[in-house]
Amino acid sequence: MKVVAFEEFGAAGNLQLADRPMPTCGPDDVLIKTAAVSVNPVDVKTRQGEALASQLEHALPLVLGWDIAGKVVAVGRNVQNLSEGDDVFGMILFPKPPNGYAQYVAAPADELALIPAGVSYEAAAASTLAALTAWQAFTHFGELKAGDRVLIHAASGGVGHFAVQMAKRLGAYVIATSSAKNKAFVESLGADEHIDYTAVKFEDETGDIDFCLETQGGPQFQRSVSVMRDGGTIINLPSGLVDSDREAAERKGLFVNYFMHVFPSGENMREIAAMLGDGTLVPHISERFALEDVAAAHEHIESGRTVGKVVISL
Ligand SMILES: NC(=O)c1ccc[n+]([C@@H]2O[C@H](COP(=O)([O-])OP(=O)(O)OC[C@H]3O[C@@H](n4cnc5c(N)ncnc54)[C@H](OP(=O)(O)O)[C@@H]3O)[C@@H](O)[C@H]2O)c1
Repeated sequence: MKVVAFEEFGAAGNLQLADRPMPTCGPDDVLIKTAAVSVNPVDVKTRQGEALASQLEHALPLVLGWDIAGKVVAVGRNVQNLSEGDDVFGMILFPKPPNGYAQYVAAPADELALIPAGVSYEAAAASTLAALTAWQAFTHFGELKAGDRVLIHAASGGVGHFAVQMAKRLGAYVIATSSAKNKAFVESLGADEHIDYTAVKFEDETGDIDFCLETQGGPQFQRSVSVMRDGGTIINLPSGLVDSDREAAERKGLFVNYFMHVFPSGENMREIAAMLGDGTLVPHISERFALEDVAAAHEHIESGRTVGKVVISL
């Protein structure tokens, strides 16, 4: 079967089509004929030699692709919840080698959910790592409550565009940042207020924030702390915070998750499936690529300007 692999960490051009034997289906796995895969900044950073690279070096040449959707073609002997012919999606094996940029992938059955009727493979693949991140930030690592004022940075991005929709579903008041060109998109997701971070300082425009989803790291973390109410919750997505960031947060008595780690969860995937099924969560796919063009998909994400999600269609 065809996969896209890289032998060395480095440029997107290292991602090359290759032939691999069909994966074997372990007792707790299902074998999936892959129909769509989505790409995240963590794929890009890892391929560049950052993020999970040191953990995954042993598995070179590496096939990334944690976000998959497709049809079950074989079922391991212990699997009770899925059958041959089911359409499934999920974030698989994160942060281990996923082998998802491939025509077939073996995945733990308990990390998957059924794709609801009427939802495409592409939409399902898009609604995996980024959607889980937003959902786990609001319901596991922190607790977003109805009536909370939530500040969502990068609201036009993969995580942010899910976060806005989920926060509205949870009854929060959403203040969202992006550049002006994405204002209409962010408002269409349900944001109550939009701040163009390129035109104004967000800390001059808002305050008394109960919950912040902080996507950028660096100076933006402490700037976000400055708009929080005492005792609020701030979830930091990128790594790399320093001692002064912790001190600033502690001075305000904030509950801080300095670097949350999204984790695979069949239960959370079923919750996301329910939201996709009832139409309260709608992924936005801005770019589609073929399997042989995974490198171009990486370059697109690398630009930092992705709107919604980027998907590989097989
Ligand atoms: N810890 C975890 O478990 C976890 C999980 C998922 C993601 N992450 C991390 O979270 C971050 C976001 O991920 P993502 O998938 O949402 O990224 P993404 O889709 O690549 O984000 C792109 C978006 O960010 C916006 N943006 C860029 N700079 C901004 C700024 N200073 N303020 C506001 N918006 C800005 C852009 O909008 P404009 O073009 O309008 O600027 C663009 O729409 C990444 O660093 C990722 O690695 C961590």
